[in-house]
Amino acid sequence: MALPEQAHAVLGHPVRRKEDMRFIQGRGRYLDDIVLPRMAYLALVRSPYAHARIRSIRVDAAKAIPGVLAVITGEDLEELGLAWMPTLAGDKQMVLAVGKVLFQYQEVAAVVGETREAAVDGAQAVEVDYEPLPVVVDPFRALEPDAPVLREDREQKTNHIWHWEVGDREATEEALRRSDVVIRERIRFQRVHPAPLEPCGCIADFDRITGRLTLYVTSQAPHAYRTLLALVTKLPEHMIRVISPDIGGGFGNKVAIYPGYVCAVVASMMLGRPVKWVETRTENLTSTSFARDYHMMVELGATREGKVTALRVKTIADHGAFDASANPTRFPAGLFSICTGSYDFPVAFAEVDAVYTNKAPGGISYRCSFRVTEASYLIERAMDILADELGMDPAELRRRNFIPPEKFPYRSALGWTYDSGNYVAALDRALELIGYEELRREQEERRRRGELMGIGISSYTEIVGAGPSHTFDIAGLKMFDSCEIRVHPTGKILARFGTRHQGQGHETTYAQIIAHELGVSVEDVLVEEGDTDTAPYGLGTYASRSTPTAGAAAAMCARRIREKARKIAAHLLEAAEEDIVWEEGRFIVRGVPGKSVTFPQVAFAAYTNPPPGMEPGLEAVYYYDPPNLTFPFGTYVCVVDIDKGTGQVKVRRFVGVDDCGTVINPMIVEGQIHGGLTEGFAIAFMQEIAYDENGNCLSSNFTEYLIPTAVETPRWELDRTVTPSPHHPLGAKGVGESANVGSPAAFVNAVVDALSHLGVRHIDMPITPWKIWRILREHGITE
Ligand code: CDP
Repeated sequence: MALPEQAHAVLGHPVRRKEDMRFIQGRGRYLDDIVLPRMAYLALVRSPYAHARIRSIRVDAAKAIPGVLAVITGEDLEELGLAWMPTLAGDKQMVLAVGKVLFQYQEVAAVVGETREAAVDGAQAVEVDYEPLPVVVDPFRALEPDAPVLREDREQKTNHIWHWEVGDREATEEALRRSDVVIRERIRFQRVHPAPLEPCGCIADFDRITGRLTLYVTSQAPHAYRTLLALVTKLPEHMIRVISPDIGGGFGNKVAIYPGYVCAVVASMMLGRPVKWVETRTENLTSTSFARDYHMMVELGATREGKVTALRVKTIADHGAFDASANPTRFPAGLFSICTGSYDFPVAFAEVDAVYTNKAPGGISYRCSFRVTEASYLIERAMDILADELGMDPAELRRRNFIPPEKFPYRSALGWTYDSGNYVAALDRALELIGYEELRREQEERRRRGELMGIGISSYTEIVGAGPSHTFDIAGLKMFDSCEIRVHPTGKILARFGTRHQGQGHETTYAQIIAHELGVSVEDVLVEEGDTDTAPYGLGTYASRSTPTAGAAAAMCARRIREKARKIAAHLLEAAEEDIVWEEGRFIVRGVPGKSVTFPQVAFAAYTNPPPGMEPGLEAVYYYDPPNLTFPFGTYVCVVDIDKGTGQVKVRRFVGVDDCGTVINPMIVEGQIHGGLTEGFAIAFMQEIAYDENGNCLSSNFTEYLIPTAVETPRWELDRTVTPSPHHPLGAKGVGESANVGSPAAFVNAVVDALSHLGVRHIDMPITPWKIWRILREHGITE
């Protein structure tokens, strides 16, 4: 459809999202919309126990149900060498339980039926005899010497998985000892879940005649899936095609490979029919990758004047039954070492110990570049605690300790080279927008009246765009990304990418980048992602990496095309190549403005009239390996009022000033920030994947794991500063996750600020009315 007013709008313009044409009309093609001839359905039998030995599995009753085609158990998979699969974190995970189960809802058997109903009935008829074992849900208990060892398959007979540390332990110890003030706090980032609206699923279609497997799957990283499937199933990689159709939200939940996918592949190979598996909401919440679950002990030293001197962090990471996190190989705790944040720490030390418990596996990066949310929350909370200790305004404390703009590129105490930043500019703008001074006066006034009002600040720094391949790989695959551009003779463009959007708007923003580079309209560029048979190899979309990697690849690939086009333009204009300049979207003969050709004219010549000796056609592919990560940042300020009678927190205002460098599409960036803030709000106030002492998951549906609606969600007031990345071809930094990373601390800081005069220093999330009500009563505050 023509969008005439957009015809020449390119970089930096709020171009309406091309993909929304189909999404808002219900014409997206999601996994469950796909129906193949002779397709069968798969359902999983799951454990009701968090820890139990399996005495027996009886499948006869299930097989007798009309419409049941097959039942697969762990023992069947063992024969195929597929009972266990490798995780992206270098651990292994049971596909179907063998011997024992390690978390509630663990996959125990798979039933395939002619219909979904037959498969579910069959699953219910599978009889499993369990012998319950002692359950460990607390990671600290898991580390005690007498704790039951959960993973009997490992040589190491403890629940400790790995230890990771970074920084200078001795120098940090010494600096803390010499500090005038040291604050210490135990801060927990609770277990949460990405909870995309569309759950995970796949259709495995193995063609017995050709020997080819097509896997339609909700995957954020289709190429990585293809390679890993080839390695696990031993099918030749060129005989596997992974198609990732439209995806209804991923947020990191669709990076890992889940047992259901492997079972569907096995079932399709067994039956010679396509097999679909789509999980339920409860299966999604209880068995697929969770996020966070970090228990962090922070110590922050400072001078009495409020200059930070040292940071030390000790973290226990609860990974559940299998270490199924999705971090780059060299970083088992992700990029947690960004925990020095926006501040100029002379020295720091961080260590993380990962632990097995009887909970669902994972530890993935939910809308976060690998444990950056935990790090950002930690430092932004700690700075507020320090401000409280020093009796200093939290904005002033931040200002005193920011890495100053002239210090970039800045090498942090924990080893990162921040590419660029201007933290004070974002803070100043946010404080101005919210009217900070006036609010502080109002707060004093209200306190005198016995009212509870708080102001919370978070000046976050992110690290996104993994990554330079010398340092970053997942399962050995280097973390570059790619773009392929095919220019058709009429100047229209097909561009394909190794990334895979899940609602982020790539079909629009990538088209904007290419249109900007080649002087064509956004409408003339069709963007495709998600089919490994057609797209160039790439590592996928997560960790806000698409713009820093594939977005850069788009620009570089277009420039490669332009270089060839310039030669063709010289031929058409009968001028020397060095006299051809690219200006305002045209090739012009230097000094002769009237003598020019447009990009479509050149494209036509590439197929109809190429210069003698030149290879015809106009296509290119570019694999972009970024020289560094990008470091977006911003300041959020939140104002809350607390109802003393109910403990209810009302977010009165929330101002966000983000900086993601050059903005490709301000409307899409704003949408990304709205989404991230809404998720951050939900995490701060209502969400937790909780367990009872028997390992029963207490958050298995949306009545227990709450999703904010428009009714609860605050109004977001946004602005931005622009500090371009010096190494990205367009100066852009990633933004998809900034708001989820930076906002939880702003909400919590605001609530604690409202209660700080009572002596409250910290409250763990989620901050429910009940928690606040109890705190108020403990401090003798009633209505
Ligand atoms: O990897 P993911 O797509 O989740 O994150 P991203 O690279 O931060 O991009 C999210 C969306 O915002 C994409 O459509 C980007 O092109 C867009 N974006 C933008 O318009 N300008 C930026 N500086 C960064 C992202």
